[in-house]
Amino acid sequence: MDKVKLGFIGCGGITQAHLDHGLKDFPDVEFVGWCDLDPKVAELRQQEVDGQGAIYTVAEQMLDETKPDAVFIMLPPFAHGSIEDLVLDRDLPFFIEKPVAIDLPTAQRVVQEVNERGLITSVGYMNRYRDSSLRVHDLIEKSKPVIMHGGWVLAGPTEYEGIWKWWVQKDKSGGQFLEMTTHTIDLARYFFGEVSSVFAVAVNVLDRPDFFTIDDAMMVQLTFENGAAGALYNSACTPVGESIGLTLWGTDLRADFETWDHDVRIQLPDGKVEEISGGQNIFAREDRAFIDSVKAGENRGILATYEDGLRATEIAVAATTSLETGEPIIL
Ligand SMILES: NC(=O)c1ccc[n+]([C@@H]2O[C@H](COP(=O)([O-])OP(=O)(O)OC[C@H]3O[C@@H](n4cnc5c(N)ncnc54)[C@H](O)[C@@H]3O)[C@@H](O)[C@H]2O)c1
Repeated sequence: MDKVKLGFIGCGGITQAHLDHGLKDFPDVEFVGWCDLDPKVAELRQQEVDGQGAIYTVAEQMLDETKPDAVFIMLPPFAHGSIEDLVLDRDLPFFIEKPVAIDLPTAQRVVQEVNERGLITSVGYMNRYRDSSLRVHDLIEKSKPVIMHGGWVLAGPTEYEGIWKWWVQKDKSGGQFLEMTTHTIDLARYFFGEVSSVFAVAVNVLDRPDFFTIDDAMMVQLTFENGAAGALYNSACTPVGESIGLTLWGTDLRADFETWDHDVRIQLPDGKVEEISGGQNIFAREDRAFIDSVKAGENRGILATYEDGLRATEIAVAATTSLETGEPIIL
């Protein structure tokens, strides 16, 4: 396969980010279809690749007429399910943005089909591809994981346009923990392994419009199968001191990740310190790994598959269930 023919379902902000960060200049891809409920959004993406590919508003039609080799599923959390079924029915490899679903039955059904059909998948946990994360992942293998804390703390939206329209509605986004902190949940698993129990507390301190149904903040305690523990959190009501970060300790290391780039400062025995930037072009790295894998028919560098998307969703859904029951949830 000289050129991998790509079809996109969902052509909004994150599709633009993938194109801009390198995918549009990959010499071995061809853009054959752009599907979005809003054809104007699809046209914008088409223009960015010099008019390549046809515009669709119905995914099934795009898949059948353009016959892509692989599909990018770039949908908001609430829109998952039937689209994946169309892609699975055609045995197509797919890249999917996080979170992979808002509910567990959808993600469980998809993972079963993916495994039965032996499909290549990649989920958009791009933080795994940073030099900083790769180094800590390497080091933690030689250490014993102990404790971690981290999350996304920010002001939250003041206008409810674009993505913020669906983001603030819990039945559409799943809430900030599922939609945004999913990146930190994924890193927690990447470094410390599988989670065995989840206990969550919600914080609601601001007056919000009726349609604003996500929690202002959440604190979520995780226990890992290996006995380690973590506290992950998010806030959408704290404009002062905003942060994205993760701090973890192993038996012989401490790592502090900071900022969206996840730059890391690693402390090691004997006063040794490593400072590693996470500011690489991670969208291009994850897209390169996916395209290489599609061409080879086997995994060539994908670091997070659909199954990782399911696991992170399980943890986030357990946090929501814990809020409802007031009990820890055993996974
Ligand atoms: N990896 C990252 O860092 C990152 C960053 C931003 C967003 N995301 C994720 O990407 C996903 C999409 O986010 P976005 O920012 O692009 O949102 P967006 O609202 O900008 O775009 C989503 C698009 O999907 C379209 N759509 C909805 N249902 C559809 C359907 N059934 N068929 C075809 N098109 C449909 C909408 O019309 C919209 O244009 C979200 O899950 C979000 O969490 C990931």
